[in-house]
Amino acid sequence: MRDFLKRLPKAELHLHIEGSLEPELMFALAERNGVALPYASVEEVRAAYDFSDLQSFLDLYFQGMSVLRTAEDFHDLAMDYFTRAHAEGVVHIEMHVDPQAHIARGVELAAVMEGLGRARRRAERELGMSTALILAFLRDRPAEEAMAVLESAAPYWELLDAVGLDSAERGNPPSKFVEVFERARRLGIPRVAHAGEEGPPEYIREALDQLDVCRIDHGVRCLEDSDLVARLRDEAVVLTVCPLSNVRLKVVETMAEHPFPQLLDAGLMLTINSDDPAYFGGGMLDNFLACHEAFGWSEEVFVTLASSAIEAAFVSDERREELR
Ligand code: HPA
Ligand code: ZN
Repeated sequence: MRDFLKRLPKAELHLHIEGSLEPELMFALAERNGVALPYASVEEVRAAYDFSDLQSFLDLYFQGMSVLRTAEDFHDLAMDYFTRAHAEGVVHIEMHVDPQAHIARGVELAAVMEGLGRARRRAERELGMSTALILAFLRDRPAEEAMAVLESAAPYWELLDAVGLDSAERGNPPSKFVEVFERARRLGIPRVAHAGEEGPPEYIREALDQLDVCRIDHGVRCLEDSDLVARLRDEAVVLTVCPLSNVRLKVVETMAEHPFPQLLDAGLMLTINSDDPAYFGGGMLDNFLACHEAFGWSEEVFVTLASSAIEAAFVSDERREELR
């Protein structure tokens, strides 16, 4: 099964590029940029990745990205992940990026976009991989700040495949960002949002009704609301599920208790994703394998899930045909 899952062409729709920063690269970039880290070794970093919830992860995630300063750093970060993912049979990657987390540290948006842009072109040229870029807003920051970032990203609007919404979910409902997402809609930029990871099913509804999103990131808590499940099924809304992330952030206790099988039984459109592979114990292949071990799914189930990701990807008709 491992060989089959590795060979299966996989599209990843839910990845935070800053969450792909492996401790080894963190140390290398810290040295290159003269940034002090509160860890003595790579092993110490990994040992610190013992999370109790989303916020406890976010604290270390924002701390880890302090080593990212220049366009070269963002290029190296993305190429490091693209190369690893390519070796696991990933053929398309849609990455969230959190500009506010960099701008707040004095890193210009231009450096972020230039570095990621160079890595994307290189991945296409050297790995035959397609990529998409999702500019994410930090939902625990003011909506006005998100709007300012969207406006300041005007030189890059053409490069954006979507805008997204991430970071601390509880207490930060999608409705807070109605104006920002309406602005993106008028600019013709597609929209996605994290909802129903730690937050209630109502946040999924809000993301659909008030932000007009085409996909829900995570969405696993929809199962608490049967009317919502029926709606997600009828409207064929894609959920980008991240199984290992859900276990590591204690959304669920164990893989055996992960609700993926119930979501499948409900007839929803589902995809498997890694979220923050450097922090949650593995990339795409590890997430596929964890599902195989926990649920004993046949090859056919994985083919369906991989195919859903390709159908829901932000790619041209030509590229989708190549990926099929
Ligand atoms: N959830 C919400 N925000 C995030 C995550 C996540 O898993 N990873 C990075 N930002
Ligand atoms: Zn995420």
